Amino acid sequence: MPSDDIEQQLETLRTQLEAWNYQYYVLDQPTVPDAQYDRVMRSLQQLETQHPELLRADSPSQRVGAQPLSEFSQVAHEVPMLSLDNAFDAQELRDFDRRVQERLGLTDSEIEYACEPKLDGIAVSLLYRDGVLQRGATRGDGYKGEDITHNVRTIPSIPLRLHGDDIPGVLEVRGEIYMPSAGFELLNQRAREAGEKTFVNPRNAAAGSLRQLDAKMTAQRPLEMCCYSVGLVEEGALPVSHAQVLDCLLRWGLRINPESRVVRGVAACEDYYESLAQKRERLPYDIDGIVFKVNDLAQQQRLGFVSRAPRWAIARKFPAQEEMTRLLDVEFQVGRTGAITPVARLEPVFVGGVTVSNATLHNSDEVQRLGVQIGDTVIVRRAGDVIPQVVSVVAGQRTAGAREVVFPECCPVCGSPVEREPGEAVLRCMGGLVCAAQQKAAIRHFVSRRAMDIDGLGDKLVEQLVDEGLVENVAGLYRVSREQLLNLERMGEKSADKLLAALQASKQTSLARFLFALGVREVGEATALSLARYFGNWEALAAATEEQLLEVDDVGPVVADHLRQFFDSSSSLEVVAQLRASGVTWPDLERVTPERLPLAGQTWVVTGKLETMGRNDAKGFLQELGAKVAGSVSARTTCVVAGPGAGSKLSRATELDVDVLDEAAFIARLETLGVSL
Ligand code: IVH
Repeated sequence: MPSDDIEQQLETLRTQLEAWNYQYYVLDQPTVPDAQYDRVMRSLQQLETQHPELLRADSPSQRVGAQPLSEFSQVAHEVPMLSLDNAFDAQELRDFDRRVQERLGLTDSEIEYACEPKLDGIAVSLLYRDGVLQRGATRGDGYKGEDITHNVRTIPSIPLRLHGDDIPGVLEVRGEIYMPSAGFELLNQRAREAGEKTFVNPRNAAAGSLRQLDAKMTAQRPLEMCCYSVGLVEEGALPVSHAQVLDCLLRWGLRINPESRVVRGVAACEDYYESLAQKRERLPYDIDGIVFKVNDLAQQQRLGFVSRAPRWAIARKFPAQEEMTRLLDVEFQVGRTGAITPVARLEPVFVGGVTVSNATLHNSDEVQRLGVQIGDTVIVRRAGDVIPQVVSVVAGQRTAGAREVVFPECCPVCGSPVEREPGEAVLRCMGGLVCAAQQKAAIRHFVSRRAMDIDGLGDKLVEQLVDEGLVENVAGLYRVSREQLLNLERMGEKSADKLLAALQASKQTSLARFLFALGVREVGEATALSLARYFGNWEALAAATEEQLLEVDDVGPVVADHLRQFFDSSSSLEVVAQLRASGVTWPDLERVTPERLPLAGQTWVVTGKLETMGRNDAKGFLQELGAKVAGSVSARTTCVVAGPGAGSKLSRATELDVDVLDEAAFIARLETLGVSL
């Protein structure tokens, strides 16, 4: 084939791959299946291997370089990379706005601001010459950074060449490289499984990934880039506002933040801040504030800089999600299944919007990995509703009084021996239901809303009942008398009667709820439901062999084993017998094989906020009807139920043309399937 034709063919393949890449990584709108992308990539690679003379550095096949570096070289930033001033409350933001107005001689007018999330990652500069990526560099001290070209080239949202006929000859683009939360969790999970060190937070993970000398390592890390400004621009011109510049970048192939908005006046800035603060936990990446920039570039120019920060921009910070404090002690909590969890007692610290004085240390492996000692200064992280965690020890602050964390050799509550099962990181109390901690936890679970739903039996009361020796196991709950209740501290006649009525009402239950309430290890709500439906009645279930149990959807060898242990234990069966003798009862179900259920074989996804029933109920109904409920949307998803606030799952469903129901339509659908609400 003449070499012109081959060049043409190569160009077609490259352009096609770049276009798909752009749709997927920049616009977040996947258009082709991975397999097709891979096929075209392979064609390109083959053709390039046959014609090495036509290979180009900006080809999509050339993202990962062959040779690791021996060291990073330094890069001088032609235009310094400055930092931002911070505003820590609404007043500081208003002060900033007033200064801007005064300096521009526009007092009492509404300035136009570009608002953007402040991504918590690593600031980088990308230099494009004639649209081709020449160099990637870290910010460093703002004047000199490190050359990380080999690593930025591996990041799929960074184009190796730009597209458009109005790109300046020299264009330096700036932005943040970060690791999305989901990728971070997965990376740490893998590290944990491999017994390797975990990353403290997504920011450190992104920094560590960019600091690799071998680009093959970086290529395996889930990094993304969002652009938020330009530096050096030569041989060409840019539009007159910040937002328009971002639009150009997007058009040329670079990724910008889809949350960016232009607003007028500081009040609108505050609204934007509030709405993003609400959304913060649902964003797929960490942000630590909002950046407000005067949108008009001529105004920016007039405002200029002061020392290291522009006068035309400010970062309004969110409350920190990580703070430093001291580890005062480590205590050990015993859970329902006897699992012993080390809990850090901390000097109280305000983090993530609340005062935190306890944080989980997970298990002994984690304590070892952190290398933490009592008395150490530690970093505590609290993001969203996740329980607070100790993420690292502040180096060089250990005092002479520091003590090692010693795990107990017997249960701190009941004194029974503790064991670590092979392959498990968790220590367990072997006391079973002799252990007061396990008794209490088992009772708390039994009475909880999704189990027997006994109103008025809070944690404090459970404590009292067990500590006073009135109740030893869940069966004992139905034997407590009115007099015994009235003798308890802070228990009035009204509350006692209400509780007795709730206990009485709870006796009419369903097999699935009852089974879930018993708290057999690994038997969650969905599994309990499948079991109840499969066996229909208690006798059949209790007599089921391991093989029969394994026939049930959701039941694997581990669950089957726990179930068999439960049914083989005479003390467990005795508790069940006592419960039934007290009048706990449920209707037997017609035995339904899973294949005959109306939604059998379907996969549903529930996302966003459901007003009438809540997401858990929605999932419960779907499972009852035989559907699988999945956590993410794929081409195999049958239908998505989306409430207000639905984010990426909804957009993914739309992209993949998956059916979407809002809550009202979902309820209507349930009703046609015989579920009445
Ligand atoms: S503008 C001269 N916009 O915040 C203005 N910075 O404290 C330069 N950052 O080093 C920065 N998101 O790493 C800007 N939308 C955004 C940003 C942002 C995150 C980081 C950036 C910078 C630091 C300044």
